[in-house]
Amino acid sequence: MKPVLYSCLLFSFWLLSFLSFCEAADGQGEILHKLLMSGRSEKSRISSSRSWAAGLHGSNPATYSPVSIEPQDGKMEADEIDALPGQPDGIDFDQYAGYVTVDQKAGRALFYYFVESPRNSSSNNPLILWLNGGPGCSSLGYGAMSELGPFRVNSDGQTLFRNDFAWNNVANVIFLESPAGVGFSYSNTSSDYDNAGDTTTAIDTYTFLVNWLERFPQYKSTDFFIAGESYAGHYVPQLASTILYNNENTNQTVGNGLLDDAITLRGIYDNFWTHALNSDETYKGIHKYCDFANDTVSEKCFEFTGQADDEIGDIDIYNIYAPICLDSSLKSGSHGSVHDFDPCTDYYVENYLNIPEVQKALHANQTEWTHCRYYAWTDRPPTILPILKNIIESGVSVWIYSGDNDGRVPVAATRYSLNMLKLGVKKGWHGWYSEKEVGGYVVEYEGGLSLVTVRGAGHLVPSNQPQRALTFISSFLQGTLPPSTP
Ligand SMILES: *[C@@H]1O[C@H](CO)[C@@H](O)[C@H](O)[C@H]1NC(C)=O
Ligand SMILES: *[C@@H]1O[C@H](CO)[C@@H](O)[C@H](O)[C@H]1NC(C)=O
Ligand SMILES: *[C@@H]1O[C@H](CO)[C@@H](O)[C@H](O)[C@H]1NC(C)=O
Ligand SMILES: *[C@@H]1O[C@H](CO)[C@@H](O)[C@H](O)[C@H]1NC(C)=O
Ligand SMILES: *[C@@H]1O[C@H](CO)[C@@H](O)[C@H](O)[C@H]1NC(C)=O
Repeated sequence: MKPVLYSCLLFSFWLLSFLSFCEAADGQGEILHKLLMSGRSEKSRISSSRSWAAGLHGSNPATYSPVSIEPQDGKMEADEIDALPGQPDGIDFDQYAGYVTVDQKAGRALFYYFVESPRNSSSNNPLILWLNGGPGCSSLGYGAMSELGPFRVNSDGQTLFRNDFAWNNVANVIFLESPAGVGFSYSNTSSDYDNAGDTTTAIDTYTFLVNWLERFPQYKSTDFFIAGESYAGHYVPQLASTILYNNENTNQTVGNGLLDDAITLRGIYDNFWTHALNSDETYKGIHKYCDFANDTVSEKCFEFTGQADDEIGDIDIYNIYAPICLDSSLKSGSHGSVHDFDPCTDYYVENYLNIPEVQKALHANQTEWTHCRYYAWTDRPPTILPILKNIIESGVSVWIYSGDNDGRVPVAATRYSLNMLKLGVKKGWHGWYSEKEVGGYVVEYEGGLSLVTVRGAGHLVPSNQPQRALTFISSFLQGTLPPSTP
């Protein structure tokens, strides 16, 4: 790992648990799954060129002008949150929220929620940009309020409790609702929603970052990390690539890479069989008839993948051993616990973020907030591996983490994908520890890439295993593998 421009990526491929079983809208996992299943016949509009960002420049020179959009003086102060309604007492860190305009002509603005480390903690704590997937799902509703943020919503849908294992214990964390149209982010030009895709998202996120750093200039020299989950397996490497590319010209911050659709599908079905969710017959049928590397799906393959889905039954495919949400109503008087993730959390979060006083406290629009929005989604490469390779070669450290109970984008799929990179192993597969127990397994490849599994976690790792998640993110931020001894 080269110490100059030390910028790191972290992303994972999990999908959301629980949502698929509630009558609410699909979550980021379900949206990603539909995209995976449907997208194989579409021709990607971005080639998997060696440098994604260079391709981005070439293909879109007229619209690509990520510059400072407007003066940011005084906006940081205006964005400071006095207190969130229902937050517990004794909060020892500062919170900010607001809009950053990313295109003045279109009237497009992205909403962020930023939590700093506790006031008395080390001033050297790094800066993390957290991105949820979908595409089209909210980093505020998932990342901040259900996973790694400082608060979770109680089952009354009105009050908050503290997450002791929040990542702001070790970093300053930006949660960005991206692209425009997600959560509180919006555009005054409605056609922007029809044009959303990987390219526009990377450009807007980059523009957001440049302008956000003008608003919070004290973070300009802070170590910067990008982290995300699910479809952010596209966003994170693409943003990193864009940052790396621009850095050559402007000395902004850094970054470059996604995994592979076809091999992911193979991994999903193999994982069903090895986890006793599918019959031998289905497994064999899929192996016989499904050519996932091809852009077409045969009728036989369709039949067997359909059979695979039916055989599984009503489990939470994003966390295969977890309970499902059976009662989505709000419940007064019960206090949530970070040690016991409530599978109905989405309902509480949705209620909370739609309270007018909450929207006011967040400096957000008074609007109907939802977890996810559907997009036609105009472009995405079928594989992120070339970008990933490029990023690693740039000296950026990349970790890919994966909860080993996720059935939608399982560890198996991620391993198949990474194996295609044919990287040498630097430190072989071994257990890592958190609180004297194996927290998961890790393998370090040559060149700065590591795969970290998290034992007993589904798609939303910090929700299911908050302490293990904090252990591995702490190690990642320090540039070391998670502890290999208890
Ligand atoms: C969107 O339009 C409204 C109303 O004209 C305006 O107040 C607002 O600033 C616009 N948003 C952006 C990001 O330009
Ligand atoms: C920071 O403050 C918290 C409580 O506000 C306290 O528990 C902790 O010990 C303090 N840490 C340091 C390093 O002063
Ligand atoms: C970028 O940084 C390098 C090394 O720190 C410096 O030599 C160069 O002048 C900078 N370029 C710009 C455009 O600021
Ligand atoms: C894709 O399918 C066609 C027709 O079924 C077959 O001829 C071709 O070899 C397949 N391509 C790959 C890469 O397997
Ligand atoms: C959000 O608020 C801004 C100004 O506060 C306004 O201009 C814009 O139109 C609003 N957008 C939506 C989608 O309500």
